Amino acid sequence: PRLPLSALLVGVLTACSSNGGSARSPTAASVAPAVGAVSAGDAYVPGDGNGGYDVQHYSLDLRITPKATPELAGTATVTAVATGPLTRFDLDLTGLNVSEVTVDGRTASYTRRDSELTVTPAAPIARGGRFAVRVRYSGIPRQIDDPVLGRYGWLSTSDGVFTGDEPSGAHTWFPSNDHPEDKASFDFRLTVPHGLTAIANGIQTGTATTGNSTTYRWREDAPMATYLAMVDVGRFKVRTGRTPGGVPVYAAVDPTVTTTTADKLYDTTARVVDTWAKLFGPYPFASAGGVVDNLQVGFALETQTKPEYGPAMGADPTTIAHELSHQWFGDSVTVTHWSDIWLNEGFATYAEWLWGERSGTGPSVQAQFDQRYRQTGSPDLWTVPPAAPGRAQLFGRSVYERGGMTLHALRQKVGDAKFFAILRAWTSEHRHGNATTGQFIALAERVSGKDLGRFFQVWLYGKKRPTSW
Ligand code: ARG
Ligand code: ZN
Repeated sequence: PRLPLSALLVGVLTACSSNGGSARSPTAASVAPAVGAVSAGDAYVPGDGNGGYDVQHYSLDLRITPKATPELAGTATVTAVATGPLTRFDLDLTGLNVSEVTVDGRTASYTRRDSELTVTPAAPIARGGRFAVRVRYSGIPRQIDDPVLGRYGWLSTSDGVFTGDEPSGAHTWFPSNDHPEDKASFDFRLTVPHGLTAIANGIQTGTATTGNSTTYRWREDAPMATYLAMVDVGRFKVRTGRTPGGVPVYAAVDPTVTTTTADKLYDTTARVVDTWAKLFGPYPFASAGGVVDNLQVGFALETQTKPEYGPAMGADPTTIAHELSHQWFGDSVTVTHWSDIWLNEGFATYAEWLWGERSGTGPSVQAQFDQRYRQTGSPDLWTVPPAAPGRAQLFGRSVYERGGMTLHALRQKVGDAKFFAILRAWTSEHRHGNATTGQFIALAERVSGKDLGRFFQVWLYGKKRPTSW
């Protein structure tokens, strides 16, 4: 994912002339400023993301000491490729104390303002140049209390911490290009007090105990959006194994959560992963699993490879079916703009309905559709377009439920075979990438051979209840 330098520039050209390799014409109007944009320009998350570079990898080496001061201390190394000449660029970071920034091993100067960390490397970076920014930092991450999105981010549990970051929480605990359009691989080195376990995305690559601490290493090689990165520190009962279909599973449950056991989480996860792989295409990652922790808030999030669940949700097969469907719809195929969020939540809601019907624990998908379609006087469903919901309705009913209904209406229109072919083409053509609603519409038209312009117009963009389509 590349963000055009011209997108949202606030800076002016300072040292562009040092980049002799730039292919741009030298006329004044087209001289490229060498300052990376301070935002991805996504109106749903003002300020999030940056321009001028494309992150390849995050390496997070963090000491986490729950309830201590500081609770978090360490270094983040962000490896990126410059998408244009760069004399200065931003990372997103809220709060915390930064004590040192280097670029390719050389001390860089930096300033902090709001949620921006502005870095000026000792020497400009040429367009296409690969560079490593190392940020040493510490502090107590600030939890987010958003009037519409609720409480999320870095959250305390009874015996540790838990991160749930959608959409804007990642940069409260690591410096990042915090927008889903810029996906990258990750590795984690998490050092915690002896007796606690530290879990992160992907596969565990090592554990070492020295003195009073234990270091847990985790690695996720598939591209991952920043909002899907997670760490969870605490005491856990863990069960590992493989699904019958061969996907490695890591299931961890806080032992003080009495409603879920590691066996229950493991069994449901394994069953759902294999079922979705048959329906949606091969499981997109090298590992699967889940973590149930003792949170104070009702929460579940599809963190890549290992969704995380609050105590009430970790034993609920519908929630597990939802979060695991996101591994295909959201985590592998990721939104390009937050306004596309129905591509995550509409699909995951549809997956819940499929799970209910197939497992016999819920009504038929048709009944789910009918029951909502009858709600003629529901403004939250009919006046909010799922593909342009506005920030206040980002996780509202229309995105989830009318989004799911849109998929069912599509299935009625094109038939079962074409419908599931569309879902599988979607997950394979955009695997590990980013996509938009426009691309979904184009793909559905291509696979079905039908003109679906009006259909999607009324279901995804209309501000009233569709009556014919
Ligand atoms: N993606 C989550 C889900 O599975 C919702 C997260 C909502 N974010 C928030 N900050 N409340 O439904
Ligand atoms: Zn969801």
